[in-house]
Amino acid sequence: EDTKDLVTRPPVVCVMGHVDHGKTSLLDAIRSARVTAGEAGGITQHIGAYTVQTESGTITFLDTPGHEAFTSMRMRGAQSTDIAILVVAADDGVMPQTIEAINHAKAAGVEIIVAINKIDKESANIERVKQELTEYELIPEDWGGTTIFCPVSAHSKEGIDDLLDMISLTAEVLELKANPKRKARGIVIEAELDKGRGPVATVLVQKGTLHVGDAIAVGSAHGKVRAMIDDKGKRVKTAGPSTPVEILGLSEVPFAGEVCMAMDNEKEARSTAEKFIAYGREKMLSETKSQLSLDDLF
Ligand code: GTP
Ligand code: NA
Ligand code: MG
Repeated sequence: EDTKDLVTRPPVVCVMGHVDHGKTSLLDAIRSARVTAGEAGGITQHIGAYTVQTESGTITFLDTPGHEAFTSMRMRGAQSTDIAILVVAADDGVMPQTIEAINHAKAAGVEIIVAINKIDKESANIERVKQELTEYELIPEDWGGTTIFCPVSAHSKEGIDDLLDMISLTAEVLELKANPKRKARGIVIEAELDKGRGPVATVLVQKGTLHVGDAIAVGSAHGKVRAMIDDKGKRVKTAGPSTPVEILGLSEVPFAGEVCMAMDNEKEARSTAEKFIAYGREKMLSETKSQLSLDDLF
């Protein structure tokens, strides 16, 4: 494999912020669907992954919970992401999980775009939010800084198109590329044991293309991809870079955050999982470090 196989991939965008500041509602507005009707206003308790087609291309969004109990999910979201959308409610301003989200995004080295939401509310105070965020080195361009701020309303849909444009522009500058031809590598976003379907893992494919029938190793789990379901509930045969898919066929439920690797065959997948169990995660990673860092180039 070499760089000639690299092609532009969609940006992965993580939506983060304090509880009830409107992350899910904003994504709902972006998707212009009522899919979260059962949840908006409720507390998000998992990471949702969605791809959205815009005029400038595909964007993959990860929705994260804002409740303080879900720190690790916010961290995982930030780590799997190219761009973080920091949602701050215009009436509420900067709150504890706003600050936590900023710290996760900064630690992961991802670009932050600020979406000041709920500007339809009478108590909205956009200037105050901008002022509060200067304390965290997020300074708007019109104040001499470099951070993009988008005032939006998930309810009136004001500003949504601007936000999407800003995401696309930021992604263009990042020149995100991946090789769709190599063996797939991804990260587990969520996983559970489904009564009827067995272990189900939502994997964000980051490099390569995952196919039905591929042998895979995911931490101590292994198997062969029996079926894949996309974010619209449709069965698919392949999933390329920046695509979230549910996969069936694993031997056990893997941990969220674990790396998913396509292998040459099932025997190799099983022995990789067995090594993982015998050595533990840290040793496994350090032993394969040279291989992994080479791998990470593409
Ligand atoms: P968690 O996932 O639990 O952290 O919440 P969230 O950030 O996803 O917020 P959610 O979308 O659940 O919205 C919380 C509440 O704010 C709901 O009652 C929404 O209807 C309301 N809300 C969201 N966006 C807007 C907005 O733009 N304007 C107004 N007025 N209300 C909004
Ligand atoms: Na909520
Ligand atoms: Mg939510």
